[in-house]
Amino acid sequence: MATMRPIKRIGILTSGGDCAGLNAIIRAVVNHAKRAHDWEVIGIRRGTDGLADRPVDAVELDFDMVPGYVMMMSGTILGTTSRGNPFKDQLEGSGRIDAIVGGYHNLGLDGLIGIGGDGSLDILRRLAERGDWNLIGVPKTIDNDVAHTDTATGFSTAVAVATEALDRLHFTAASHQRVMVLEVMGRDAGHIALRAGIAGAADVILIPEVPYSMAAIKEKLRRRAGRGKNYSLVIVAESVRTESGEAVTQSFGDGDARYGGIGHHLAARIAEETHAEVRVTVLGHVQRGGNPTYVDRVLGSSFGVAAVDLIAAGKFDRMVAWQGRQVVDVPLSDVIGGPVLVDPIDPLLHTARALGISLGD
Ligand code: F6P
Repeated sequence: MATMRPIKRIGILTSGGDCAGLNAIIRAVVNHAKRAHDWEVIGIRRGTDGLADRPVDAVELDFDMVPGYVMMMSGTILGTTSRGNPFKDQLEGSGRIDAIVGGYHNLGLDGLIGIGGDGSLDILRRLAERGDWNLIGVPKTIDNDVAHTDTATGFSTAVAVATEALDRLHFTAASHQRVMVLEVMGRDAGHIALRAGIAGAADVILIPEVPYSMAAIKEKLRRRAGRGKNYSLVIVAESVRTESGEAVTQSFGDGDARYGGIGHHLAARIAEETHAEVRVTVLGHVQRGGNPTYVDRVLGSSFGVAAVDLIAAGKFDRMVAWQGRQVVDVPLSDVIGGPVLVDPIDPLLHTARALGISLGD
């Protein structure tokens, strides 16, 4: 697809929702590209929005811009965007695609490292095809739903934050004999809720992949009460639907519906059915920030180094991935195609059930 010439100058951008570990990737790319190859590294600001600007919104990255402590910061020092998919109907033909594609050539890049989730990587790949870019993808998302990688940057920190929230809620639940409902993120997938629910000793874990009934939840709470446990912790993924199958969403005036509200919906139903005192916590974007875990720092660092190695080897249209105990690379085309959900035979479902956690089924 893309043309090959000696590499001198590469670009890097972050795209889609921010998460922990992005700055570890950027730091690793700068360090490895400069130390091993003496390449120029251009950081593009605000994702594809920055590429569409003229002049392109970009900055040359040097060692002093990515000190060690940058890994302790969540977010992205380059900024990002999760809006304005140039391939959406209303933007097709507006010249935006050409502007973004041209931004790469305007900067004189020989390769681009695009950090994104499956949606952003799909957009970047389509742009790369149009513009004959040398593209390498790096997976990041708290949702951990990118195909062909065991884990994506940002997931570990999100799970750690959700686990800590359950830890904190535990004591209020016990002290007040309440049912505490914690709603966590995970657009379409229940990976965060499943792991945090196990780690945080939830009594009920609800994920979109496992259909639930109020009757099963009620029965679980009743059995706990029968054993003198008059409090419970319920963790629910934002993308869980109502019992009758409706998605619970919120609109913030930008035309997009976002998940949010299932926690309150469930709390009302639980209160109705059990007369328990129920409270809700919606964790939201708190899961995307905070102190990146060592896993996200190591993963981000490994991914950044591997992405530079791929460019040096002239292997493009690939995504770096974590499989087993190491970094590998896979064709970007294999990664596109929708989120990877919790598998019905995921061993963690068995783990949860064996621990006595109700999955609501
Ligand atoms: O995909 C990451 C994610 O944090 C989802 O878990 C969540 O549904 C969504 O992004 C929130 O998007 P926004 O930041 O646009 O509100």
